Amino acid sequence: KTVSIIGAPMTYGQPFVGTDSGPSLLRAQGLVRELGNLGWEVEDIPDLDFSTICARSETLKQPSIYAPQVHNSLSVGAGTRALADLVESKLKLGRFPLILGGDHSIGIGSLAGILRTRPNTGVIWVDAHADLNTPSSSESGNMHGMPLGIMMKELVPDRSVIPGFEWLEEGTSPPHLSPDSLVYVGLRDIDRAERQFIRKLGIKTFTMYDIDHLGIGRVMDLALEHLLKSDPDRPIHLSYDIDAVDPMHAPATGTAVRGGLTWREAHFVAEHVVKSGALASAEIVEVNAALSDGHGASATVELGHQLVNAMLGEAML
Ligand code: ARG
Ligand code: MN
Ligand code: MN
Ligand code: MN
Repeated sequence: KTVSIIGAPMTYGQPFVGTDSGPSLLRAQGLVRELGNLGWEVEDIPDLDFSTICARSETLKQPSIYAPQVHNSLSVGAGTRALADLVESKLKLGRFPLILGGDHSIGIGSLAGILRTRPNTGVIWVDAHADLNTPSSSESGNMHGMPLGIMMKELVPDRSVIPGFEWLEEGTSPPHLSPDSLVYVGLRDIDRAERQFIRKLGIKTFTMYDIDHLGIGRVMDLALEHLLKSDPDRPIHLSYDIDAVDPMHAPATGTAVRGGLTWREAHFVAEHVVKSGALASAEIVEVNAALSDGHGASATVELGHQLVNAMLGEAML
C-alpha cells in the first residue's frame, strides 16, 4: 500500500502567515522514514507551489452579495483546484492521500478530489469549529471557516458565483458532500449560523460535551456506526484540525479554543478510525508554528507528527 504525501501550504484561508510551513515542519520530524517503518510505500510529492498557483494580488473586488467580503477567494480557489486534481489523480492510482496543510480551506480541494473519485465517501471532521459557514453567513470572511458549507449543496447550491470557484461547478456531476455523510468530533466554538445549519441539516455532531459525557471510545463507535451502518464498505476521509486538541498541547494554531481533546483522546480518534479499516485518506491542518513561542511551536508540530503516525496505523499491531 502506497501513501502519497501531499503538502498543501495554504495560508489564504485565514489572516496569519505561518500555516505555510506546516508541511515542511511535519516532514522534518522524520515522517517519510517513519511511515516506511510502518510498512508503507511512501511517495513524497513536492509541496504544491501556492505562491505561483494562487493569484499573487487580489485586485478583484468581491461581489457585494457577500457581507462581509470573502477574503482571498481567488487564491483559495486556484489553490484548492490544484489540490483537488492532485488528490483525484492519486486516488485513481489506488494511493492513500495524506494531505499536510496549510489552513483548513484546503478541505475544499481535498473533498472535491475525493468526492469526484469516490462520491460515497464518509467524512469525520475533527475540529473545535464546524467550518460550515457560507460566503454569506461568515462573520469573519475567512475561507478556513467555510470548507464544509461550500461542499454542501443545501447551503451553497452554485459555487460558480464565488470568484475563483467556477471550476467546482464544472462537469456533469459537481462534487457535493451530503449532510448525512459527515460526522463532527470535538466541536466547542460554533457560530450562530452554523448552529442553525447543523440543526436544519441534521448533521451528526459530537461536541466536547458529548465526549465528556460518553467518553471518546463510545463517541468514536457512534461516529463510525453513523457512517458505516448504511454502507459498511464506504471509504472514510479524516480531516483533522489541530485546534481540536486542547491548546495545552497545540497552542501554535490560529484559532485556539480552550477545553479540547487530551493527548490520548486526540490519538484515539485517529487510531479508532484506522482500526475500522475504512480510512482511505486523511489530512492535518492549521499547524502554525509562527503563532507561539519556540516551545509551543515544537510541541504543536510534534503532536501533529504523532497524529499523522496514528492516522497511518502506528498503534495497530
Ligand atoms: N467560525 C469561525 C469563522 O468562520 C472560525 C473558523 C475557524 N476555522 C478553522 N479551520 N480553524 O471564521
Ligand atoms: Mn519522529
Ligand atoms: Mn478549527
Ligand atoms: Mn477547521
